[in-house]
Amino acid sequence: MKNYKEEILRLKKEKNAAILAHYYVRDEIQELADYVGDSYYLSKIGLKLDAKIIVFCGVSFMAECAKILSPHKKILLPNTNAKCFMVEMASKEDLLKMKKKYKNAKIVSYVNSSTEVKALSDACCTSSNAYNVVKNIDGDEIIFVPDKHLGSHIQEKFPDKNLILWDGFCSVHNNIEAEDILNYKEKFDSKIIVLVHPECKKEVRNLADFVGSTGQIIDYVGKCYSKEFLVVTEDGILYELKNRYPDKIFHSLNTICDPMKSITLEDLHNSLLLEKNEITLEESLRESASKSLLKMLELAVK
Ligand code: 13P
Ligand code: SF4
Repeated sequence: MKNYKEEILRLKKEKNAAILAHYYVRDEIQELADYVGDSYYLSKIGLKLDAKIIVFCGVSFMAECAKILSPHKKILLPNTNAKCFMVEMASKEDLLKMKKKYKNAKIVSYVNSSTEVKALSDACCTSSNAYNVVKNIDGDEIIFVPDKHLGSHIQEKFPDKNLILWDGFCSVHNNIEAEDILNYKEKFDSKIIVLVHPECKKEVRNLADFVGSTGQIIDYVGKCYSKEFLVVTEDGILYELKNRYPDKIFHSLNTICDPMKSITLEDLHNSLLLEKNEITLEESLRESASKSLLKMLELAVK
């Protein structure tokens, strides 16, 4: 078997490339990546890099965000099967129909959406900045697309705003049941700290000690005095958690996102070697979508 690791490091240097990875991809890819983070961090980091090529180890909407914000860079997606299920749940046509019904509403789209949907939106958000985006956007009536669970989580924080929720969800997080957590607590230790991603259903979020994005979950563990955690999101996050906090104990529900796991070291190697699976976007579409992503960056820090 080829020594992909060495070859990837050599090619990366030779081609002035950077490898970006989400916390859900395979451990060996996170280990090799130059930058690992949640979707908010990864959407911003490309802007700062002077690498000519970015190999994006995540799902396709993440690589598209990098292209939208850094159009002059070559963005490669190592495996074209890495497609988030949620993106398909909101079409441009259906969003236009919704907008016709709620003419004065602002559109906030979760980044787990297509470039077409982003192009129709007033602002994008990720799970770590959705609170700030909804708080700071100029409007109290908001079409929130496509994740109904993240939308309802944010709606709870703003009773004076009206979030019109889309019927989308993450098929991976949506499969997690409250019972899974209750069984776990009963079997192990009821004092275990439960960390939940906001893409989970309300009854699951209600059992959480902390609800947050992958990046926020990782930061929370660092500030928490407890030693033992049940991590209710995709298992890839355990790689960073165990590395960063070797003295703490992490349990999980064996939750796997197949599209994220589809990227292998071989894919990463081949895409870098052949510069294949480049993300390309039609320029006027890219420009429209960039406005909503730039709005997100502005509203997220207000
Ligand atoms: P984060 O923004 O928390 O990284 O989440 C991305 C995602 O796809 C969760 O399923
Ligand atoms: Fe999409 Fe869900 Fe996978 Fe996240 S975990 S990338 S939302 S399918």
